Amino acid sequence: GVKVAVVGVTGAVGTEMVSVLHDRNFPLTDLRLFASARSAGKTLETPFGSKTIEEFTVDSVAECDVALLAVSGDFSKEYAPQLAERGVTVIDNSSAFRYDDDKPLVVPEINADAIGDAKIIANPNCTTAILAVALQPLHAKFGLKRAIVSTYQAASGSGAPGMKELEEETRNILQGGQSSNKVFVHPLPFNVIPHIDKFQDNGYTKEEMKVTWETRKIMRIPDLPLSCTAVRIPTLRAHAEAATLEFDKPVTPEAAREALSGAPGVKIVDDPENNAYPMPLNASGHYDVEVGRIRQSIVFGDHGLDIFVCGDQLLKGAALNAVQIAECVVS
Ligand code: HSE
Repeated sequence: GVKVAVVGVTGAVGTEMVSVLHDRNFPLTDLRLFASARSAGKTLETPFGSKTIEEFTVDSVAECDVALLAVSGDFSKEYAPQLAERGVTVIDNSSAFRYDDDKPLVVPEINADAIGDAKIIANPNCTTAILAVALQPLHAKFGLKRAIVSTYQAASGSGAPGMKELEEETRNILQGGQSSNKVFVHPLPFNVIPHIDKFQDNGYTKEEMKVTWETRKIMRIPDLPLSCTAVRIPTLRAHAEAATLEFDKPVTPEAAREALSGAPGVKIVDDPENNAYPMPLNASGHYDVEVGRIRQSIVFGDHGLDIFVCGDQLLKGAALNAVQIAECVVS
C-alpha cells in the first residue's frame, strides 16, 4: 500500500481528490490531509470518514510516498522540489512546472509513458486535459494538423470561491440587488466573460495560451497551430469546448465516431435527432469526457471536423487526472 498526502484539501480540487481516491479504491495504507495553519485541526467529513486536517510542513508530508498538490503555483514552486528531494513523488495541479522540459505533463490516456521515474509530475490545465482526451483518438487515426477552439468554462475553474460567487450573485440579482464581483473580472450571472487569467503580449489570455502550449506538449505535436478563445460562462462545474479541426488525412464523421468509440475516457453523446449532445449539466460529476456534434467542417472540408466536448472541470480537468497519474506511479 501507499501513503498519500493531499495538500490543499479544503479547496474544491483537494476535496475532489479525496473523493476520487475513495471512489477508485486507490491502494492506500494511509491518507493524510494537509492545509494551511488556518484550517489545521479542523475535522473534514470525507468518504473515508471524519479526518483531521494537519498543518502543511515539509517534514510531515515527507512521511508520505505520494503527494497530490492542489495549491497555488507559488506554493508548488517553493515546496514541490523540497518534497521531491525527500523522496516524495509530487503530482502538482498548478502551472508551476508544466512547461519545464524535464517535468512530464501527463494525461494518462495519452502519455502515461512520459512519467518515467520523475519525482515531480505536472497535472494539466483543466481545459486542456478535457480537450486532449477527445483529440488524441482522432489524432492517432487522422493526424491533427490545425485546431481552432472556443471554450465555455464553468465557475469551478476559479475554485470554491468562484462557485459560491456565481450562486450568491445569481440570487442577489434575482432579488433585485446590485450585482458585484470579487472572484471574476465582471459579474458572471447572466453574462459571458471572454477573459480568463492575464492578457499576454500577443493579445491572447494566459488561459488560452495554456491550451496551446499544453496540448502541444501532452500530444507531442510541438508546433501544432492551435488557437483558443477562452470564455467564462455561468455554469457551475463542467467545461464545454467547441473545436474546429483539420487533419492530415481525409476524415468523415462516421470514421471519427469509430475512432472515438471505446477510446479511454471518451463518451460519445451525439444524437441530434433526439437532441442529445454534450452539456455541462450531464457531464458534471462524471469521469468521461462527452464528445458530440461531430460533423464535417465547412471550413476544412473533407479533411476537417467540427466537434463539441464537455467534461467535469474538477474531475477529468483536475482531481481525476491527478489520481490517474498517481495510479500510474504506484502500479
Ligand atoms: N484555469 C481554469 C479555469 C481552471 O479558470 O477554468 C483550471 O485549470
